[in-house]
Amino acid sequence: MKNTITTLLAMRERGEKISQVTCYDYSMSRLADAAEINTILVGDSLGMTMQGYSDTLPVTMEEMIVYGRSVVRGAPNAFVIIDMPFMSYQVSVEQAVANAGRLIKETGANAVKLEGGAAVEEQIRAIVDCGIPVCAHIGMTPQSANVFGGFKVQGKGEENARRVLEDAFIVQRAGAFMCVLECVPPKLAALITSKVDMITIGIGAGAGCDGQVLVSQDLLAMSGDFKPKFVRQFEQIGARMTEAYRSYDAAVKDGSFPAVEESYAKSDCSDEFLRDLDKQY
Ligand code: KIV
Repeated sequence: MKNTITTLLAMRERGEKISQVTCYDYSMSRLADAAEINTILVGDSLGMTMQGYSDTLPVTMEEMIVYGRSVVRGAPNAFVIIDMPFMSYQVSVEQAVANAGRLIKETGANAVKLEGGAAVEEQIRAIVDCGIPVCAHIGMTPQSANVFGGFKVQGKGEENARRVLEDAFIVQRAGAFMCVLECVPPKLAALITSKVDMITIGIGAGAGCDGQVLVSQDLLAMSGDFKPKFVRQFEQIGARMTEAYRSYDAAVKDGSFPAVEESYAKSDCSDEFLRDLDKQY
């Protein structure tokens, strides 16, 4: 059954936790959808996981649309949220609305996500007013990593904690139905969750949020050696994939792949015809 804003808000109401993972293509979103993950985020983290950049800043609208479309095709049940990439919504409210509309029209995603609190209040309000659901993202916002001096925990200290809480109120007032709390201390994240009506989704924000999001490549251990503190690797898929590639390489090289049963032997020409062919050329 398709997850919708209504079903997700009802889960929150019942105290049921909401699962979210990032996906960037059809094959991964099919698997996540089959596992009954509630919501899939087409994160601009694809700049790092899929494109090998060191941050999310180079990702473009066109790239989000290509990846987003393929994710939506693989996810008949999950609620799909797509990130607005860096500089697609900061310049003006008009540009934010136009780009949010493009992402929804051209990918079929169900909602957009944008980073920031007070600074993007007007953008959130205008996008919601057009009928596009918005997931906000506060705390550590990776598109502003250069301002923070890196990917650092936010909301430490009383003044910062108050600012993160106020950002939560601001994005909710602007109309966000969901808000990612990234790298926010756990007690503060739990307090925010108890104070707002929107759905909170934590990443590095403790267990007190309404739901959790992880980058698929992190939870499957496909991100190389780097492992943020808040990541749990639920499987060693990366190592298992390398092992599978190694076995394939060895089988190609020793001639054991493909075997007869892995060939179209039944459709082959007669030996007599092939002998003639051999003689003719
Ligand atoms: O881009 C992304 O993957 C994200 C999540 C980490 C929340 O914004």
